[in-house]
Amino acid sequence: MKIYAAPMEGITGYLYRGAHFRHYGGADRYFTPFIVPGKKRGFRSRELNDILPEHNEGIPVIPQILTNDWEDFLHTAEILKSFGYEEVNLNLGCPSGTVVSKKRGSGFLAFPGELELFLDRIFSGTDMKISVKTRIGRDDPEEFGPLLEIFGKYPIEELIVHPRVRQDFYRNRVRWDAFEKALKLPGIPVCYNGDIFSPEDLARFREAFPETDRIMIGRGLIADPRLASALSGREEGSLLKESGEEEKERFLAFHQDLLDGYCREMSGDRNVLFKMKELWAYMIHLFPDGERYGKKIRKAERVADYSVWVSRLVNEQEMLPAADTSFLRQPAER
Ligand SMILES: Cc1cc2nc3c(=O)[nH]c(=O)nc-3n(C[C@H](O)[C@H](O)[C@H](O)COP(=O)(O)O)c2cc1C
Repeated sequence: MKIYAAPMEGITGYLYRGAHFRHYGGADRYFTPFIVPGKKRGFRSRELNDILPEHNEGIPVIPQILTNDWEDFLHTAEILKSFGYEEVNLNLGCPSGTVVSKKRGSGFLAFPGELELFLDRIFSGTDMKISVKTRIGRDDPEEFGPLLEIFGKYPIEELIVHPRVRQDFYRNRVRWDAFEKALKLPGIPVCYNGDIFSPEDLARFREAFPETDRIMIGRGLIADPRLASALSGREEGSLLKESGEEEKERFLAFHQDLLDGYCREMSGDRNVLFKMKELWAYMIHLFPDGERYGKKIRKAERVADYSVWVSRLVNEQEMLPAADTSFLRQPAER
């Protein structure tokens, strides 16, 4: 089973990806959060930093583009190619209001005619591999059939399907019945994405879809950086056999690597801690009584205070064998 690390805007930038790759690994590919450059504007510095080769050395990274303008797409793809990338990913899934209202991300799915024209242009305009990450429609899962007919006309490197519609955001049931339709597309490898938070989730998925050989994980991996290794079944180093103390050491080294990276890159404790606290909304579930410490971590205003509470948390609490992901699950499943 191939395991891909999902793009998560604001979270999985190059510092996170690098730290995860160095300390945990287990993911076959890391997708960048979307970049939205234009012909006129070029890359923002955050976008450029994220894809610079020296920031991604040795890591299997696929850059993701969010646009509905074929010229912008091709222009960006050429720049990415000059940096050495061989594949780009098109975002047809983003549910955010400002993105959808501009007919981008999942908003583009409601305009199949324009989407087809766009795909025509980008597939004939570059020799780079193009993969697509999509929802099953903007408003209604019934949109997915006609969308698949369009996708089927192009040599898509792989189609990553998050089987929700825009209005679901990341809530509500994932629609496996819609996902199943994508598997009938001849010649296009299909990757599943959505709500795989544990080996048990993956086992259930594999039982339903034994032919699918690749999945993408997002929130579950942020909650538990061991998840990619746990799901891939490969024993990367001795990760799966570590003692509690070794696991804690690894976690602290990963955390410190990331914190040092943000301290180097950003100015001011406030900005650094904003990034770290976002992660803790997920990672706190690695510890049985984490919330008690979580409050202190959220309140910290200086990196020094923050670090004290993180080390207290890790030293005083046992790390769970797997994160408690019930906070991510639909109420009906609990
Ligand atoms: C905070 C956040 C940011 C995200 N940013 C992106 C993004 O930049 N590009 C993208 O294609 N998907 C993005 N996603 C969607 C994830 O890649 C993934 O499809 C989603 O979390 C479902 O997978 P999961 O159930 O494994 O978390 C984002 C999701 C979240 C929660």
